[in-house]
Amino acid sequence: PDTAIIVVAAGSGTRLDAGAPKALVGIDAHSILRHALDGVFAAEPAQVIVVAPAGYEGDALAELDAAAGDRRDLGRVVVGGATRQQSVAAGLAALWGDVKTVLVHDAARALTPPAQIDAVARAVVPGEGVIPVLPVVDTLKKVAGGAVVSAVDRSELAAAQTPQGFPRAELEAAYEAARADGIEYTDDAALFAAAGHRIRHIEGSSRAFKITTPGDLERARHLLEASAA
Ligand code: CTP
Ligand code: MG
Repeated sequence: PDTAIIVVAAGSGTRLDAGAPKALVGIDAHSILRHALDGVFAAEPAQVIVVAPAGYEGDALAELDAAAGDRRDLGRVVVGGATRQQSVAAGLAALWGDVKTVLVHDAARALTPPAQIDAVARAVVPGEGVIPVLPVVDTLKKVAGGAVVSAVDRSELAAAQTPQGFPRAELEAAYEAARADGIEYTDDAALFAAAGHRIRHIEGSSRAFKITTPGDLERARHLLEASAA
């Protein structure tokens, strides 16, 4: 396949605080990483790089084996770094063959619909990145020192999800530039935009929410129970 999906799963999950790296925490009988990989392997065939926490490569490999089915030869596990950006860089370094499009996906967005992964992959065009977004529903305020400074026009805002898709060569160059400059960006789209490239957006999905807190894990559990019923 000329598309690769880097699934970053190397975070510790400080906010979830579940006593194990977040990707290996169970939602139901299956872990966050297993659910994320089930989604990835239900999408169009792609090379899959799982970026695992140091010391948990074997666990990640077992989840890859379980999720990949007859696409097992398309998957690899590598070890991540101290920051998400370093973990993505480790994933990029592990690509093989003549991949042209790279999707970067948070394992923590475990219930992302395969259709969202395919839509992002399809929307990548030369020189431009693509991200799925959702409208912001809350009323937002700018605050400082206990005071509300101003209102924020939420129609100008969107909440970014993953996977985020990019042409490989430009993404690799942008990662190299970020490393050389020593800058940590909030996401891959920000890093890619800093290299001077355009980012377009497509519609995201509520199921692609990121499991961050114990409440998010509960929400994922309930969604799975509802779809099993
Ligand atoms: N991630 C990673 N390597 C890191 C940090 C994060 O691969 N050094 C991954 C996480 O595994 C996750 C995704 O990036 O799938 C989004 O990060 P986040 O939700 O912040 O996960 P954690 O960093 O693990 O959680 P926390 O910030 O609460 O510690
Ligand atoms: Mg984090």
